[in-house]
Amino acid sequence: MIDPAPIYDAATAFWKSSVLFAACRVGVFDALTDPSDAEGVAKRLDLSQRGALALLDACVALDLLEKKEGQYHNTPTSERYLTSESPASLLVTLELQAKTYPMWMNLSESVKKGQPTIPPRDLLGGDPELTEQFVVGMHQRALGIAESLVNVIDLSGCRLLADIGGGPGTYSTMILKRYPELRSRIFDLAPIQDVARTLVATSGVDDRIEMVPCDATKDDFGNGNDAVLISGLLHRMTPETSQDILRKAYQGMESGGQLILNDLFTLDGEPALAVLFGLQFLLTNETGGTHDARDMAAWASDAGFVDIETISLFPYMVITARKA
Ligand SMILES: C[S@@+](CC[C@H](N)C(=O)[O-])C[C@H]1O[C@@H](n2cnc3c(N)ncnc32)[C@H](O)[C@@H]1O
Repeated sequence: MIDPAPIYDAATAFWKSSVLFAACRVGVFDALTDPSDAEGVAKRLDLSQRGALALLDACVALDLLEKKEGQYHNTPTSERYLTSESPASLLVTLELQAKTYPMWMNLSESVKKGQPTIPPRDLLGGDPELTEQFVVGMHQRALGIAESLVNVIDLSGCRLLADIGGGPGTYSTMILKRYPELRSRIFDLAPIQDVARTLVATSGVDDRIEMVPCDATKDDFGNGNDAVLISGLLHRMTPETSQDILRKAYQGMESGGQLILNDLFTLDGEPALAVLFGLQFLLTNETGGTHDARDMAAWASDAGFVDIETISLFPYMVITARKA
């Protein structure tokens, strides 16, 4: 028999997302910093008993909770990432992800039109509440992954970093903590920087950070840069705009300077997560999608960069290069 399992797996995958989003929204993981039975959780969160029991058991089935003798407990993972008081909390970024959910139901429409079904500027200043959530969400997500990047790059001797599309500034602040001689200029759209300033102000390295309002599709990135970081920006851009941004990064860079591209890239059509991530930009932006790592390396080479290397930090990939 030809196994239909991949079809059923895909058809029901949204059940899992729905359980996670609902449990976060009603506050299950905050409620279970103190273990409880289903009745206790229902009372604490003002839920129906039937609903609480079903949701809690679903969380157990998905390894988001543990159940021992009728008592539900957070796992170490849910305690760390899904409670609001944890410094590693992902709740804001997950809420933002949950808000993209109705757009995924419109995927067939976006596929027909080749366009998003929401105003693309909502997250980039159009809607103040969504914009704040976007910036804080990027910060929460970056906290979990920026350290891996910091561990694979060497910016010894560098004085000035340009962080293009630097958003909340999480990468810049982590890098500056590692390199006390380094300063950073964070380039991003003005409405994003208005929110990011409050995050940068509490970083402890804000005296070495300058926020530069910039539209990377139009403006350049200053001069004298010893390193240029472009993290999570180029997937919003067409290949042509990406190439233009790489050329501008090269022009503003000192000889011997380093280029660091951090993003989800595909390589021979994998990984699946990076491929699906591309669809998110069909749903939310007029341009963009996941770029292929080999294309990106070729564009960096065309812009003049040498010594191009690709490092896998699954699911992310880092492409490093140098200006001769
Ligand atoms: C996914 S976020 C990445 C943020 C950060 N670099 C990181 O990796 O966590 C993409 C960033 O690109 C910024 N961006 C989008 N379009 C831009 C443009 N035209 N010019 C400058 N920044 C832009 C967004 O505001 C956002 O901060």
